[in-house]
Amino acid sequence: MPSPSEPSHYFDPAPSVGSRRRTVDLVLPEGRLVTLITDQGVFSGDHVDPGTRLLIATAPPLDDARTLVDVGCGYGPIAITMALRAAEDATVWAVDVNERARVLCAENAEANGVGARVRVVAPEEVPDDLVADVVWSNPPIRIGKPALHALLTGWFDRLAPDGTAVLVVQRNLGADSLARWIGEGGRPVVRLASRAGYRVLTVGGGDP
Ligand SMILES: C[S@@+](CC[C@H](N)C(=O)[O-])C[C@H]1O[C@@H](n2cnc3c(N)ncnc32)[C@H](O)[C@@H]1O
Repeated sequence: MPSPSEPSHYFDPAPSVGSRRRTVDLVLPEGRLVTLITDQGVFSGDHVDPGTRLLIATAPPLDDARTLVDVGCGYGPIAITMALRAAEDATVWAVDVNERARVLCAENAEANGVGARVRVVAPEEVPDDLVADVVWSNPPIRIGKPALHALLTGWFDRLAPDGTAVLVVQRNLGADSLARWIGEGGRPVVRLASRAGYRVLTVGGGDP
């Protein structure tokens, strides 16, 4: 945990900054309004991040996927969208290191009617044998390249052979070099969309 004199990061496990809750609105492309409680000390607390909106607008349909994961769920815009779009019996695992974000995500899932389908957990609470049909993520680029690569490798390895990961990354935060790194690791990577300085990448499952 940072000392009071250190800046608080959105990926701190327990943000040191005080709480100041408010709500933000997310209108899904299918027309549904999702209202989300946010706070200080979580990623993009004043508005739903434009990259997150782009991922939500461009990610392929979830079809009959049953095990879905949002890596780095924050206050939940991606996890809740997945749960609203997924099959009735699907489970969305919403994973984050930031405890304040996890509390918000669970409250937001409940308030938007999908609390029963969203399991909000810390990374160490993810079952060892979890195999993901779909992973969506606006990943924590700012944790640094080695940590980011380790995080993504761990989640790509959990994808089912026909599973897919969808990532959104800012172009000027290294989206293209990240895509190159994924491809060099032997996984099929496709640029699904490129808009307003963001790239949406899909990554295939199975052995690299
Ligand atoms: C760019 S933010 C995206 C948040 C949210 N999905 C959104 O779109 O607003 C990335 C999130 O990843 C979380 N994070 C950082 N390291 C992580 C890790 N090792 N495992 C899971 N989440 C992590 C951060 O706390 C942060 O909430």
